[in-house]
This record gives sequence, C-alpha cells and structure tokens, in this order.
Amino acid sequence: MLRAAALLFILARVPVKGVGAVDCAPASGSLTIQTSSDVTSLTACKTFTGNVLVAADGPSTIDLTGLTSIIGNLDIENVNALTSLSSSTLTAATSLTLNNLPVLSNLSFPALANFTALRWFNLPNLEDCAVATGALSAEVQVVTILNTGLRSLEWLTWPVGSHLNISSNDELREFSIPYSTIEAGSALTLTKNPALSSFNVSLLSEIYGGLQIYGNNAITQLSFNALAAIGGYLQLSGTFNNVTMPNLDGINGALRVETTGDIDALCDNLLTNKQLNGHYDCTSNSQKLIMNPSVTAFASSTATSTATAVAVTISTTISTSDGDSGTSMMISNKAKAGIAVAVILFTFFVVACTIFCMRRRSRRKVKEIAPINKVKSTSRENLQLESSQPAFVLDKNGSAPGSPLELASPNTPPELDGAGGWSRNELAGVVPIEMDGQHGVSEVETGPERFELPA
Ligand SMILES: *[C@@H]1O[C@H](CO)[C@@H](O)[C@H](O)[C@H]1NC(C)=O
Ligand SMILES: *[C@@H]1O[C@H](CO)[C@@H](O)[C@H](O)[C@H]1NC(C)=O
Ligand SMILES: *[C@@H]1O[C@H](CO)[C@@H](O)[C@H](O)[C@H]1NC(C)=O
Ligand SMILES: *[C@@H]1O[C@H](CO)[C@@H](O)[C@H](O)[C@H]1NC(C)=O
Ligand SMILES: *[C@@H]1O[C@H](CO)[C@@H](O)[C@H](O)[C@H]1NC(C)=O
Repeated sequence: MLRAAALLFILARVPVKGVGAVDCAPASGSLTIQTSSDVTSLTACKTFTGNVLVAADGPSTIDLTGLTSIIGNLDIENVNALTSLSSSTLTAATSLTLNNLPVLSNLSFPALANFTALRWFNLPNLEDCAVATGALSAEVQVVTILNTGLRSLEWLTWPVGSHLNISSNDELREFSIPYSTIEAGSALTLTKNPALSSFNVSLLSEIYGGLQIYGNNAITQLSFNALAAIGGYLQLSGTFNNVTMPNLDGINGALRVETTGDIDALCDNLLTNKQLNGHYDCTSNSQKLIMNPSVTAFASSTATSTATAVAVTISTTISTSDGDSGTSMMISNKAKAGIAVAVILFTFFVVACTIFCMRRRSRRKVKEIAPINKVKSTSRENLQLESSQPAFVLDKNGSAPGSPLELASPNTPPELDGAGGWSRNELAGVVPIEMDGQHGVSEVETGPERFELPA
C-alpha cells in the first residue's frame, strides 16, 4: 500500500506529456518490482530514471511494454518464479543483468538499441531469446553469457567494445563472429562450451584486440579464411584437427595455437612464411592442453607491444609445463609457484655469480624447474629484446627450447649479461599479467554450475 502510494506520488510529481507518456524518477533512485501491479504502474512511465530491480518473490511474468527507456540498470537476480521477461518497446537501458533465474525461458527485448552491458549468468532454462535485433544506436561495451541454456546467439551481430565472454553454455551449438575486425581494446573469449561444434570465423580479417578460444572440445575445424593481420592476440587451444589461415600475412602481436589434433600443415606454413614478424607458437598433437590461458594484456589496454606478447606467451608456457590438467586454481597456484621459484632462482643465481666463481652454481636446481613441452612445436621469435639476441627460439625439431631458466643455466656463461637483463625484464612482465588472467578465470570457476557476478 505504502509502495503503491509512493509510486503514485512519483507519477504525480512529474509532468504528464500525454496518455501513457510519463517520465518517472523516484526519489529513492530505484524501484523494486514485487507484484504485477508494480509492473503495471511502471509501464505507465515512458522513461524511468533509476534502477529497476525485482524482489526474490517477484512475479512470474514481467512485460515492460510501454516503457521505452530506463536511464539506469535493469537488474534481476535470484527470482525463483520468473519465467518470462519482455518488452516490445524498451529501446534503452544502461545495462541488463540477469543472474540466477532458474525458470526463465522467455526473454524478449527486440527493440533494445542503446545499452552498454548485458551480463547474463546462470539461466539454465533459457534456450533462445530475441534481444537488440535491429540496429544499435550506441556501442555495447560488455557482453557476458555464462552458464545459460542458449542454443544459438544469432541475434548477437554487433561488435563489443570491451569484453565479449561466452562461456560454459552447455547447449550452445553454433556461433559466428559477424564482423571483420576485432578492434584494439576489445576481447572476445569463448571457453568451455562443450556442444559448440560450429564456430564460423570466416568474416574475420583483422584482429587488433584479443580472441581466445579454448576448452570448446566439439570444435574440430577453424577456417580463418579472411584473416590477414594479427595485431593483437589470437589464442587457440583445443582439439582442432584442421586450422587454416591461408591469407595471413602479418603478425605484429602474438599467435598461439595448441591442439591435441594434427595441425602440422598450419605450423609448417607459419614457419615458412617469412613475413611474420611478431611472436607465434604453434603446437600440434599436444599431450597437455592449456585450459586456462591467461590473457588480458591485449584486451584491457592498448599495450600491444611485442614484448608484452612474449610475456603473455611465456606465462602460459609456465602454466602448461608443470600443470597436470587440474582446476584453474591449481594451475594458477602452480604457475605462481613457478614464477616465484624462477624469481628466487634468478636472484640466487645473480648473487652466486657475483660472490662466487661461476663453477659454484647449482646445476641440479636449474634443471628441476626447467621442464619444457616435449611435444612437437615450432616457433620463431624475431624480437629485439634487451639482450638483442633471439632469446626464445625453438628450433624446428623442438629440441632446444629456450626459457628464462635455461638461459640462466651454468652452461652458458657467455650469455650471462644479455640473458640476465632479458630474464629480469621478462619476470617483471609475467607476474602482473599472470595474476590478472588467473583472477578473471578463477572467478568464473567458483562452482560447476553457478557463477558469481563480478563486483
Ligand atoms: C542512450 O542512452 C543514454 C542514457 O542511458 C543517453 O544519454 C544517450 O543519449 C542515448 N543515446 C542515444 C544515441 O540514444
Ligand atoms: C514471451 O513473452 C511475450 C510477451 O509477453 C509473449 O507474447 C510470448 O507469447 C511469450 N512466449 C512464450 C514462448 O511464452
Ligand atoms: C560462415 O559465415 C559466412 C558469412 O556469414 C557464410 O557465408 C558461410 O557460409 C558460413 N560458413 C559456414 C560453414 O557456415
Ligand atoms: C581443412 O579445411 C580446409 C578449409 O575448410 C579444407 O579445404 C581442407 O580440405 C581441410 N583439410 C582437411 C585435412 O580436412
Ligand atoms: C571476460 O574475459 C576477459 C578477458 O579474458 C576477462 O578479463 C574477464 O574477467 C572475463 N569476465 C568474466 C565475467 O568472465
């Protein structure tokens, strides 16, 4: 009663522009829908300034048709009975957050054209939806679709300015990247969608931001038929047996491909292509897969220097080299431990060099923590680092993989100064990137079914 009166007060104190065309702005800054009559009152407004929320025991159907703009967020979480959420008139809302709606099956906002974020988590009964099906009037920044029952995303046809994450959607069968460029500052991540068998990247011609595809074990083929330039970061990890990039003629950022399948054709092509200047790492028939590569550098900043690219790749190598396909937390901790050990060892090494003669150093410890992928691997590195030598080269047979640890081995005294400078530089780069990436991933993996909204 009190609440209905409050809303009436709102309606009364704003100018009436005509029947059904009222702008509402509650003094409290938000409205929590508790009953169907709250929905009716809200849809008498044309514009609502404030956030719209729904109580946990809110109605099972919410149709916001009538309302055209929410200058604020539509935030619906933990509503057990909500089955249908729709509006054929809503064109603007700052963000649409849907979280833990166990029976939501009907979601329809076709007119939506002005919004910055969609954050959807834990919507197991949502098999399809219609959202923003027309042209957009503003750039979308963030789209997160995690643990939903969606089977396809054919309505998602627009570029996303910052992050697009599509993860852990058990029923998702297909996805196409519907545009040709991933811009700098933008990252697209598709992970752990087990039924995703059709992933169409044929329109993509340039990657200046980041594209990460891993843990989607139904994808066997990736045909980057139009891809010409990688200026940012492309990471592919999975069970692919056919990856093609017939038109690739420039890597200024980094490319990392790892698969349990046979992609020797791609790796060989990369190796013989003399125009590829950036970093790449191609691993065919891998025994161990990186399940949670850590990459945020290219997404969240414009720092696309090649030095950063190498740091990112090395950090993932450390993750793989000692990880038994455990949880992300395990790998994360192991990777951190590896980095910590490397730092300690390096410090030890420098001190040892300075104080004692070179022969006093411990060879055994260096070997212990320098395990390297034994799988067939090809890689080339032409970067000008401090040492001005190609410090991170795998030869064609993969027999002499370089690493900061190996460079610090007692067998290579002539390289000490250069390698030492490079190594110090490298570790400084690895640590923050590794932390950022692992943090993001482990947030997603706090439970097998439920995902927590980031703060
Ligand atoms: C989009 O909505 C915001 C308010 O949320 C408004 O300030 C902006 O002008 C709108 N943009 C367009 C192009 O309608
Ligand atoms: C979804 O909601 C809209 C609007 O209330 C309604 O017209 C439509 O019939 C609903 N669809 C299903 C499958 O329930
Ligand atoms: C991929 O998308 C392109 C462009 O939309 C289309 O022409 C092509 O047929 C699609 N390929 C597959 C295998 O679906
Ligand atoms: C790999 O994919 C390409 C492009 O789709 C195709 O032409 C080729 O035949 C495939 N190769 C194998 C071994 O399947
Ligand atoms: C989405 O992906 C980006 C880039 O990988 C990551 O930083 C971010 O934490 C992810 N967000 C969620 C909610 O998973």
